[in-house]
Amino acid sequence: MLSGSKVVLRARYEEDIPILRTELYDDAVTGSRAEGAPWRPITPGAKDPRLFVDDQGPETVSFSVVERDGGALVGTATLWGIDNHHRAAHIGLGLLPSARGKGYGSDVVAVLCHYGFVVRGLHRLQIETLADNHGMLRSAEHNGFVREGVLRSSAWVLGEFLDEVILGLLAKDWKPNATS
Ligand SMILES: CC(C)(COP(=O)(O)OP(=O)(O)OC[C@H]1O[C@@H](n2cnc3c(N)ncnc32)[C@H](O)[C@@H]1OP(=O)(O)O)[C@@H](O)C(=O)NCCC(=O)NCCS
Repeated sequence: MLSGSKVVLRARYEEDIPILRTELYDDAVTGSRAEGAPWRPITPGAKDPRLFVDDQGPETVSFSVVERDGGALVGTATLWGIDNHHRAAHIGLGLLPSARGKGYGSDVVAVLCHYGFVVRGLHRLQIETLADNHGMLRSAEHNGFVREGVLRSSAWVLGEFLDEVILGLLAKDWKPNATS
């Protein structure tokens, strides 16, 4: 497991799955805004790769996020699109509604940066998010990510096209204790 100041990233446990499915992936609004694909319900027991880590390829590493104090499950964190030639990957995270706005998002990004740069030896990390996702933008920027571009009207989200922002961070610019 990997510890931040407020959260710990650990393996996915079987008991996490119904909580994540109910509180995170059954929510059509969060799913439509976070996933870049049409929202679909997950049937209980289905081997959906968002929940069942065994079904993922080597280019994806999924974690469950728990509180450092007490160990309660608060969400998911993923390093995806890992490219060992270009030494780059993407970051994704989703917190349960009750866990948002407590500084956990910034801490999850910090821990994923440690995993990407230190454990995996990557050179570049990237985040894509909707331009109005201020919590995600701030969580990224707290860790040194810079806005590299806007993809205008690139995401169809619940009846409208929205802009997406691409943020990047290079290993040489990363300051491990940049979160505040
Ligand atoms: C986006 C998300 C990961 C942010 O995590 P979080 O724990 O809620 O964010 P934090 O508490 O670390 O806050 C980080 C900053 O964003 C700000 N912020 C958080 N939520 C915000 C909101 N809804 N509107 C505006 N600012 C917000 C905080 O004030 C803080 O800024 P500050 O430190 O400058 O005061 C979380 O809200 C989430 O999981 N949302 C649903 C899924 C999602 O959008 N995932 C990302 C897909 S790309």
